[in-house]
Amino acid sequence: MNLQSCRNIADLRKRAHAKLPAPMFHYIDGGADDEVSLRRSTDAFDDYELLPQYLQNIEDVDLSTRILGANLDMPFFLSPTGMSRLFHHDRELGAARAAEKFGTFYSLSTVGTASIEEVAKTVACPKMFQIYVLRDRELTREFVTRCKEAGFQALCLTVDTPVAGNRERDFVHGLSIPPNFRLKSLWSFVAHPSWTLNLLRHRDFRITNVVHRVDALAKGAMSLIQYVNSQFDPTINWKDAEWIINEWGGPFAIKGLLTPEDARRAVDVGASAIMISNHGGRQLDTVPAPIDCVAPMRDAVGDSIELILDGGIRRGTHILKALALGADACSFGRPYLYGLAAGGQAGVERALYLLRQELVRNMSLIGCRTLQDVTRVRVRARRQVG
Ligand code: GLV
Repeated sequence: MNLQSCRNIADLRKRAHAKLPAPMFHYIDGGADDEVSLRRSTDAFDDYELLPQYLQNIEDVDLSTRILGANLDMPFFLSPTGMSRLFHHDRELGAARAAEKFGTFYSLSTVGTASIEEVAKTVACPKMFQIYVLRDRELTREFVTRCKEAGFQALCLTVDTPVAGNRERDFVHGLSIPPNFRLKSLWSFVAHPSWTLNLLRHRDFRITNVVHRVDALAKGAMSLIQYVNSQFDPTINWKDAEWIINEWGGPFAIKGLLTPEDARRAVDVGASAIMISNHGGRQLDTVPAPIDCVAPMRDAVGDSIELILDGGIRRGTHILKALALGADACSFGRPYLYGLAAGGQAGVERALYLLRQELVRNMSLIGCRTLQDVTRVRVRARRQVG
């Protein structure tokens, strides 16, 4: 199956599965514990029905919007995801170029394999940097300064990872960072020679935004869980969030909130947006599906803060439902990482193209020409949720 014959995100996932050694594929694809939240995050969209209104003149559907102080051509963007070099040598820069082509945000992760400065040099689209607060607190201050100097539009603070989630597929398949060829996964690396030879030729895996201060990997490979638990600061709290927001002084999202109570706290500390997210079902298992949190959180905060739905999106109808329930925009990780693994930058472009095409068609079919037309009257719960 080539990229052009991938008709949807599920096809890109199949192609990614074929291309990647098992540890890398399952690192993208897997979740925590029994993967209940992972499954529910997508399945829960089916608990809502879309309500079309016809005869509305839907010629020239307009997806443009403004999020975190940036004008975007469409209401969805790439979530921050770590270590893209594991999936394709185009890594973060290829994903950022794809975002630029589609007129949307690129989000770079603290644990990305491209630097703040490289991304800034590569693309002119709006850029967000995602912060994990590490034990080396000086790094947080440094991230803020570097992002200002590099012209990043926004910061986001991920709050759902005080310790690592229990991702059992990573143990089963032997994921390590940097990747090494342990007996457990040796066959899988041999069976994917183009990925393996490419990594061996380039040897360019680096968690580049942090290595100059804490090169935790200098002594050799470790599991992701060991990395997170040794480097991330578990003492992080709301006062820290407030401090970073003030230090930055620009558009700021808190990522990983799921409850109306936390949404109100985010408003109180001065955040400009919340990314409603369960970290792709990779942290605490059995938390709610993000789509089920949109309406209660919107009701709790009114229009005082932007809400971005992050989680479970595989279809344009998913984006439409999130917007109708009260989200201002959506973001996603796996759909574009499947694309990256399937074909580098061109694969990310394919993922963005497919979802944009689906959303335009779905807007036309529901009778909405602009995003302002997408309101709660366009959606209803099939049955009581929550
Ligand atoms: C990193 O943020 C991950 O979910 O693996």
